[in-house]
Amino acid sequence: MTEQKATNVTWHDHKVSKAERFKLNGHKGAVLWFTGLSACGKSTIANTVDHLLHSMGKHSYVLDGDNIRMGLNKNLGFSAEDRAENIRRIGEVAKLFAEAGNFTLTAFISPYRADRDKVRAILEPGQFIEILVDASLETCEKRDPKGLYKKARAGEIKGFTGIDDPYEAPEKPELVLDSNSKGIDELAQEVIQYLESKGFFTA
Ligand code: ADX
Repeated sequence: MTEQKATNVTWHDHKVSKAERFKLNGHKGAVLWFTGLSACGKSTIANTVDHLLHSMGKHSYVLDGDNIRMGLNKNLGFSAEDRAENIRRIGEVAKLFAEAGNFTLTAFISPYRADRDKVRAILEPGQFIEILVDASLETCEKRDPKGLYKKARAGEIKGFTGIDDPYEAPEKPELVLDSNSKGIDELAQEVIQYLESKGFFTA
């Protein structure tokens, strides 16, 4: 647990409840937590789902790995400790976005099970939807859109997930997307169907 430094702080409840915000939107808010290796398709799928939700009139927003690391988390690297802090902050931000009534889609490798489970624990049951974007290392390495696997293999990047750093797949994800053999649009539809089937599109 991250230690609380501030003393003399008091929690303030909101006058507008979460349920009232969901009612105004006509749908629930939730965190859709995409996890998987670099280049497995997390960001692309999250952005496609975001676009679909938006065109359906639902409120949604994507928090994306590389972008967040250029702002909010620019002081963090890729040690296990920094990755944990990266995920902790994203989890807190995602929770705020979801409580504001949004479908909040996060696209981070989030390689450690314990870090993801801590995010699950700060959300209400059912509000954390863990989505494994399942692509083999071989598939991701073949794609290598940023040339990072090549660099990692050459020893130019140390501690690269899947090469010389671990990836712990979720044991009981809400959803598994087979990114080895299916296309982005089909996988995005699977996410929409999941939300529909679980009643997220009603307040
Ligand atoms: S996480 O492990 O803390 O969840 P995050 O998703 O924010 O990672 O960032 C991963 C992205 O950073 C990768 O897609 C890749 O572009 C880049 N990256 C740079 N160095 C590394 C590394 N050592 N391991 C994994 N990704 C890295």
